[in-house]
Amino acid sequence: MIDDGEEIPLLGGDVTEGLVRVGDTVRRPPGERDDLVRDVLLHLEKAGFEGAPRYLGIDSAGRHALTYIEGEVAGRPRPGWIADEDRMVSVARLLRAYDDAVESFGLPAELPPVVEPPGLPELNDPPELVGHQDVTPENVVFRDGRAYALIDFDLVRPVSRCREVVNLMLWWAPFGDDADLDPQLRGLDRSRRCRLLADAYGLAEADRRRLVELAVGLNERAWYTMKYRAEVLGGGWQRMWSEGVGDTIRRRQQWLEANADALGSAVVSG
Ligand SMILES: Nc1ncnc2c1ncn2[C@@H]1O[C@H](COP(=O)(O)OP(=O)(O)O)[C@@H](O)[C@H]1O
Ligand SMILES: [Mg+2]
Repeated sequence: MIDDGEEIPLLGGDVTEGLVRVGDTVRRPPGERDDLVRDVLLHLEKAGFEGAPRYLGIDSAGRHALTYIEGEVAGRPRPGWIADEDRMVSVARLLRAYDDAVESFGLPAELPPVVEPPGLPELNDPPELVGHQDVTPENVVFRDGRAYALIDFDLVRPVSRCREVVNLMLWWAPFGDDADLDPQLRGLDRSRRCRLLADAYGLAEADRRRLVELAVGLNERAWYTMKYRAEVLGGGWQRMWSEGVGDTIRRRQQWLEANADALGSAVVSG
């Protein structure tokens, strides 16, 4: 039985409403990918992977209960350590460990519905594992200055390792125009940081060669997907859209295209 107790709202994320902490657990309201998230978390536990919450079951209110992971999570305003290279490298290592642990889970035969605009062209990027795909600063718990756990598995989906690393770089290099970044993340050498991230993840050479092109293709799709989700799902998606996420994605596209050569050669050069 999962205990009831005082409910403390967990803020800081963008999308999940009704997320609360109860003692040393968190309770997530039901969502469309619940079965996959549950199965992935149970697989990670069996695989002995420590860097994810444990799945505990369904509480009396029908919510999924997970363990609360103590540690530091970057909120807003961003903490001073957000640009720290050692922290960044530790996130890449954690993501690699997650991807390695989840690989034996395989690819689910049946996929939960993905809310995407119809007719969006497919990218040539065959999936290899069930990726996390949302490695934002808010979704990493740090302990002793190092990334300890990933949380928020709401966007898990079959993807390539290269796509996992693109998502990692998006938030931790990070990708985008300085004007769109938090003040602590401006003026960084993004080429150097991408190289460090690819190295810490241990990305294969062939993936390094196609990474920037994939990043550009994914960013282009993101604009259509975010717009569509705002229209169809409303809620946090609509809020992000009215706050201008679409323009941010457009400016990031220009930034990626302007920096493609520099990023590409930093990531591949021997
Ligand atoms: N299992 C957990 N352990 C520790 N903190 C958590 C956990 N789940 C959520 N949180 C905290 O709550 C915040 C929002 O949760 P999250 O699952 O990321 O929701 P959202 O979908 O809104 O991003 C996180 O940034 C984190 O600070
Ligand atoms: Mg989150």
